[in-house]
Amino acid sequence: MSTTADTVEKKGYDVEEIRAQFPILKELVHGKPLVYFDNAATSQKPRRVIKAESAFYATINANVHRGVHTLSTKATEAQEAARETIRKHINAKHAHEVLFTSGTTASLNLAAFSLGQLLLKPGDEVLISGMEHHANIVPWQLACERHGAKLKVIPVTDSGELALGASDHLIDQLSDRTRILAISHVSNTLGTINPIKELIAEARKRGIITAVDGAQAIAHLNVDVQDLGCDLCAFSGHKAYGPTGTGVLYGREELLERMPPWQGGGEMIDVVTFAKTTYAKLPFKFEAGTPHIAGIIGLGEAFRWMEDYDKAAMAAHEHTLLEHATTELLTIDGLRIIGTAKEKVGVISFVIDGIHHYDLGTLLDQQGIAVRTGHHCTQPLMERFGVSGTTRASFASFNTVEEIDSMLAATKKAAKMLR
Ligand code: ALA
Repeated sequence: MSTTADTVEKKGYDVEEIRAQFPILKELVHGKPLVYFDNAATSQKPRRVIKAESAFYATINANVHRGVHTLSTKATEAQEAARETIRKHINAKHAHEVLFTSGTTASLNLAAFSLGQLLLKPGDEVLISGMEHHANIVPWQLACERHGAKLKVIPVTDSGELALGASDHLIDQLSDRTRILAISHVSNTLGTINPIKELIAEARKRGIITAVDGAQAIAHLNVDVQDLGCDLCAFSGHKAYGPTGTGVLYGREELLERMPPWQGGGEMIDVVTFAKTTYAKLPFKFEAGTPHIAGIIGLGEAFRWMEDYDKAAMAAHEHTLLEHATTELLTIDGLRIIGTAKEKVGVISFVIDGIHHYDLGTLLDQQGIAVRTGHHCTQPLMERFGVSGTTRASFASFNTVEEIDSMLAATKKAAKMLR
């Protein structure tokens, strides 16, 4: 939980009260009640998020930071209120350390491009892990290619944890050429919660810049950027009950001041001449062009919605779902869970002998159950586990034990049909 100064009254945990706020949960799929277990891809949205986004268009639609007219002022105030809400939630020191982007992918591309320019020289190294999403691999690979640097990888154990070294050299792959450690807080495929606070501390001791892919953590764990000690932290709005096309890159002020801009255009400048351009102050230096204002306002509302609840209670609920699903799935003949780390969020990836994940996903869909199938944008991780893909169920605060039982019954039925 963010360690904000404000003490707010949190609502008790009542899953039915939560479910009632998600209009989509009343939808039928193939005539069956929707069971939505694809929250790691995108979570569903509570009514007040949907309302906040549409109310912007209906009542205050105007561009931000550009006009003196009333609508522009109101739009600017609403957008900046969202920035402050997110600042508080992640316990950033300053609102201008919260940069709005289109999602984690854009945030990590910004980070890799700009840090590459700032830090990387031929022979330098960027360290990632073997469980990264493609969005936390490819931007760094591109930066390494641009600057003659090398990408190094922390391996993954059979249980889906980081293969760390002995305590006096926690990360064997660090060297005196390592400039950047880019690591996911939580694996989107395995659900593993990585010990990033320790990893960040280890990197910082050596002056290494740390970037966290927080996409799968933000809606499920307490993310306190000052407590973690990270330099950068990327996450998406759409996986945290907010609109698609929204995201954040948190950056420590002192580092953001030194980082060169990523995209050029309107709003990110101070003075433009044909000879030279000087840049706007933070956060605008990194926010070229008109942002997704409606989405950002919806994102602010999603974070206010999460703030209404005790995040630890949400996490405990999701953990109960994970434990129930794990125990019950393992009763299915030939089923293997990929990712059995001790510390996990509510993400469960599995394979069943002789059954292709697409076939299983299709049959589950016919029962109204939405899961993700495939490589989950983690091809190197699939190779590590020797599988082409998995079936993945990922839980959110509104899911129930009964829904898991429906998935189990449907999986058993599908397995019989497909064998
Ligand atoms: N990164 C998203 C997922 O894991 C799309 O499904």
